[in-house]
Amino acid sequence: MTERAPAPPPADPGFGVYVHWPFCKAKCPYCDFNSHVRHAPPDQARFVAAFRAEIAHTRERIGQRRTHSVFFGGGTPSLMEPATVGAILDAINEAWPLDARAEVTLEANPTSVEAGRFRGYRAAGVNRVSLGVQALDDAALKALGRMHSAEEALGAVAVARAAFERVSFDLIYARPDQRPADWAAELRRAIDEGCEHLSLYQLTIEEGTPFAALHRAGRLIVPEDEVARALWDVTQETTRAAGLPAYEISNHARPGAESQHNLLYWRYGEYAGIGPGAHGRLDTPEGRVATSTERGPEEWVAKVEAQGHGVIADETLTRAEQADEYLLMGLRLMEGIDRARFARLAGRGFDPARVAALLEDGMIEELPGNRLRATALGLPVLDALVADLAA
Ligand SMILES: C[S@@+](CC[C@H](N)C(=O)[O-])C[C@H]1O[C@@H](n2cnc3c(N)ncnc32)[C@H](O)[C@@H]1O
Ligand code: SF4
Repeated sequence: MTERAPAPPPADPGFGVYVHWPFCKAKCPYCDFNSHVRHAPPDQARFVAAFRAEIAHTRERIGQRRTHSVFFGGGTPSLMEPATVGAILDAINEAWPLDARAEVTLEANPTSVEAGRFRGYRAAGVNRVSLGVQALDDAALKALGRMHSAEEALGAVAVARAAFERVSFDLIYARPDQRPADWAAELRRAIDEGCEHLSLYQLTIEEGTPFAALHRAGRLIVPEDEVARALWDVTQETTRAAGLPAYEISNHARPGAESQHNLLYWRYGEYAGIGPGAHGRLDTPEGRVATSTERGPEEWVAKVEAQGHGVIADETLTRAEQADEYLLMGLRLMEGIDRARFARLAGRGFDPARVAALLEDGMIEELPGNRLRATALGLPVLDALVADLAA
């Protein structure tokens, strides 16, 4: 995974907007995202008004920008009406004009009902979808609590490929009882779908989810470390052989098809977080600010209606905090981090002795252009690596 030195990234990572849609049809037992199930469908017009208000508030705060990417994440944004998506995009475009080449992604669940809305999203301005396929095996989908079969999901992928320039899908691996050879075959089938981007996540047992309770009770057994490692290796080998190498820990793309929005996060660019439970990193006259909004959907709408925004935390980051965040994000990428940018953020360079020791231990490696990246040894222990490097 580490033999190829990717092209250096652009000097300015750009500006993006994240929009959170917090509703789902059902809650998947492994998921701890800010997603909620409601018996009565939410009033989308009311939410549109709130999204518009929060966008206008953020525009007041930071002033002009050009938008390079927009990401509708969730929850399940494919439960939004195309008109809702269009109205939010109009508001973003009014606040911060969309660049002609802006990437506009919408996360979609791959059911046939949702695929029926894809053309409407395209007409509203979405040009990329990211589908939560999760598995190409019906028994595994059932165990994950999904509401679609593999066939239905692949049907949605086909509809998406006809409607959008760019399509990605997510799979979850390191599932209970999954063997490397089976995963390799499943992954090859996924690659054969011809998408240019895949997000491949190892199943994580998240505290507070039904999977965590089952796991504690010994009723859900995830692969042991050795098998998990073999599954990871198979993932890297299979995707690389197919021309979709990893460009980030869990993301694989044909060169040039990387997600611009996600790259913006990992390159520590500037982004506004709009909607319930959204996070932002904004550049203000006071410096870089970390924002987050009220998580509860109804509470968020009420707050926006009362005060024009749902922001509940707004903290100016110190230089050291910014430098840490830059490392934590950037070292996920195969292109690594720029030592000079770290020095500008931190107000000091790395400790040469620490860099030398980590190089010696094979945890990081040097790239041309004064860059460093985590190796296959360093990636699994990224938090510790960042703490060591930043000390
Ligand atoms: C915010 S979810 C939204 C996607 C969409 N709602 C769906 O489920 O199809 C984004 C992705 O995170 C991944 N994910 C969520 N929980 C996970 C977990 N516990 N372990 C691994 N991946 C997870 C899934 O692949 C999912 O598609
Ligand atoms: S995985 Fe997707 S559909 Fe399932 S609960 Fe999480 S956000 Fe909702």
